[in-house]
Amino acid sequence: MNTNNQKSKKQLDQLKPKIIFWLKNNVTQKRFNHISRVAKVAKKYAKKLKLDPSKAELSAWLHDCAKEMTNNQLLRFAKTKRIKMDEVDFINPHVLHARVGAVIAKEKFGIKDPDVLGGIRCHTLAEPKMSKLVMLLYLADSTEPGRESRFAEPVRKTFKKFGLEEAVLHAIDVKLKEVIEKEKVIHPFTIQARNWLIEKIRLKK
Ligand SMILES: [Fe+2]
Ligand SMILES: [Fe+2]
Repeated sequence: MNTNNQKSKKQLDQLKPKIIFWLKNNVTQKRFNHISRVAKVAKKYAKKLKLDPSKAELSAWLHDCAKEMTNNQLLRFAKTKRIKMDEVDFINPHVLHARVGAVIAKEKFGIKDPDVLGGIRCHTLAEPKMSKLVMLLYLADSTEPGRESRFAEPVRKTFKKFGLEEAVLHAIDVKLKEVIEKEKVIHPFTIQARNWLIEKIRLKK
């Protein structure tokens, strides 16, 4: 284990009991179970990709910390904290739970690491220029074992066969198809992230 990994392991060990205690009081049991499955999967993926497993786990434990906030609470919080908003955020404020969650992680739990915060911020809509750890959290959230297998299994297969970027692109497409089928609005962040990933994958070939 290198020194950076040791540092983040220490931070995780210190914060994990506090986060779990806080989550138990602020999210439903069902949500808590989802979060702990994401934490387990994120740690596993990080080891597989030789990324920092403690950062991945920390990001996962906090990713849905704002999930139980109401739309009005999310909008008010976002306004107060000057979170940059798109008109789609006003139509579907629930997606703000990711950006709001990142602010809570920073202010309440003192997280400073851009990968940990980025993982929380991008887990719902994705964003262009995501780091590997940030993408990993998006993937872990979409493929944890509680997700419907008809959606998650093809993405897991893409991850095994092609790798992280390809799997995240696939997971974005799965989400977008659902959004289109339900005739819901698409957030520009997701389109930008998808365009960025397509170019990134194309340039790799
Ligand atoms: Fe979420
Ligand atoms: Fe989640």
